[in-house]
Amino acid sequence: MIGISILGATGSIGTSTLDVISQHPDKFKVVGLSANSNNYKMLTLIERFQPQCVAMADESAAKDLNKMVQDKKLNCEVLSGVNGVREVARLDAAAYVMASIVGAAGLEPTLDAVRLGKRVLLANKESLVMSGELFMQEVANSGAELLPIDSEHNAIFQALGENYGKSLDESGVEKIILTASGGPFFKDKDRDFSVITPEQAVAHPNWSMGKKISVDSASMMNKGLEVIEACWLFDATPDQVDVVVHPQSVIHSMVEYVDGSVLAQLGNPDMRTPIANAMAWPERIGAGVKRLNMFEVGRLDFFQPDMERFPCLRLAYDAVSEGGTMPAVLNAANEIAVASFLDGKIRFTQIQKVISETMEKLGKLNAENLQVIQQQSQKAEATAAQIVSALS
Ligand SMILES: NC(=O)c1ccc[n+]([C@@H]2O[C@H](COP(=O)([O-])OP(=O)(O)OC[C@H]3O[C@@H](n4cnc5c(N)ncnc54)[C@H](OP(=O)(O)O)[C@@H]3O)[C@@H](O)[C@H]2O)c1
Repeated sequence: MIGISILGATGSIGTSTLDVISQHPDKFKVVGLSANSNNYKMLTLIERFQPQCVAMADESAAKDLNKMVQDKKLNCEVLSGVNGVREVARLDAAAYVMASIVGAAGLEPTLDAVRLGKRVLLANKESLVMSGELFMQEVANSGAELLPIDSEHNAIFQALGENYGKSLDESGVEKIILTASGGPFFKDKDRDFSVITPEQAVAHPNWSMGKKISVDSASMMNKGLEVIEACWLFDATPDQVDVVVHPQSVIHSMVEYVDGSVLAQLGNPDMRTPIANAMAWPERIGAGVKRLNMFEVGRLDFFQPDMERFPCLRLAYDAVSEGGTMPAVLNAANEIAVASFLDGKIRFTQIQKVISETMEKLGKLNAENLQVIQQQSQKAEATAAQIVSALS
C-alpha cells in the first residue's frame, strides 16, 4: 500500500487524482491533503478518504475546518497556513506527493517533497518555471522521482521510455513537439480579442480545468509555461522544443528522433490517464477513461502557432531564452494579470501588456538561490499590480 499526499486536493487535478485512487483502494492510501480555503469540500474528502492530516493555507478556513472535524469526531489533524501545507508535503507516510497547487504557492511544498526524495507527481508547472535550475539540482541531489502530470510532458515521458533522464543527444532525440489545442479562440480568426469575457476565456473546448490554467490556455501562456517546463524536465534548449496547434487534443505530444521516427502518445483528453500513468509507473493501472475511438476522431489537424495573435507564447520563449530570474518574473506577472482579468480589471488583450512591461521593467538577475528568485517574483507581482492599476 503506497501512502500519498495530495497538495491542491480540492482542485481539478486533485479531484481527478482522488478518482484514480478510489479505483485502486488496494494500492494507494491517502495520508495527507491540502487546499487553500475550500473547507466544506475538504470536510467531505476527510470523511471519504480518512487521511491522517490535512492543511488549509488560509488560516481562518483551517480554524473553521478544525471545529467541524471536532464536532463530527473525525480522527484527522488539521494544520494551517503555508507551514501546514509544507508539513503535508513532508509526511513520512507519504511516499508519493501529488503537487497540484495552482501557481507560485506550490513552489515551497513541492520542493519539500523533492528534498525528501519522494516520488513527486508534478502538475504545478509554475514551480519548475520559476526555479528550473535549482529545482532540478534538488531532484538530482535527493534522488527524488520527478514524474510529469501535465498531459504534454507525460506524453513525452512515455515516448522517451527508458531514455527519460538521459540527455537528448544520448537518446538520439532531435525535437520535442508539444501539441496545443489553441484554446477557445484559435479557430475564430476574425474575433476581437479585446472584448473577450472571463466566462468565454475559461470555456475550454476539450479540457475541464481550473480557472487560471483555462485562461492561460486561451492566451496560449499555458503552452509558453509548458515550453519552459519541457526545457527543464528534458534538459532541452528552447529551440529543441516546438509547438504545434492540434485542435482535437488527441495527440498529447511527440518526440522526434534523429532517424526520422516521431513517437506520439494519444488518448481522449482526460487527466486521469497521465495521473494513473505516473502513479503506477513503471506498471500500468486502469484510469476509468473512455477509450479512444479512431473512427469517431476521424481526422487529426495541425497548424502553426500564431505568435502575433497569441503574444504570450512568444514572451515565454523570450523569458526562457534570457534565463536567470526572467521565467519567474514572467510567471508572477502572468498570475497577477490573469487574476486581474478574471476580476474584470483588465481586458484579455492587456494580459500580455502587463507581462511584457513587467519583464522590461525588472530585467534579469542571476537565479543564484531560491531567495533571489522569490524576491524577484514578489517584485514582479508588485510591478504587475501597479501596471494593472494604471490600466484599470
Ligand atoms: N486542470 C488540469 O487539467 C491541469 C492540467 C495540467 C496541469 N495543471 C496544473 O496543475 C495545477 C493545478 O491546476 P488545477 O486546474 O487543478 O487548479 P484548481 O482547480 O484551481 O485547483 C487549485 C488547487 O490549489 C489550491 N490552492 C490555491 N491557492 C493555494 C495556496 N495559496 N496555497 C495552497 N493551496 C492553494 C486550491 O485550494 P482551494 O480549492 O481551497 O482554493 C485547489 O485545491 C496548476 O499548476 C496547473 O497548471 C492542471
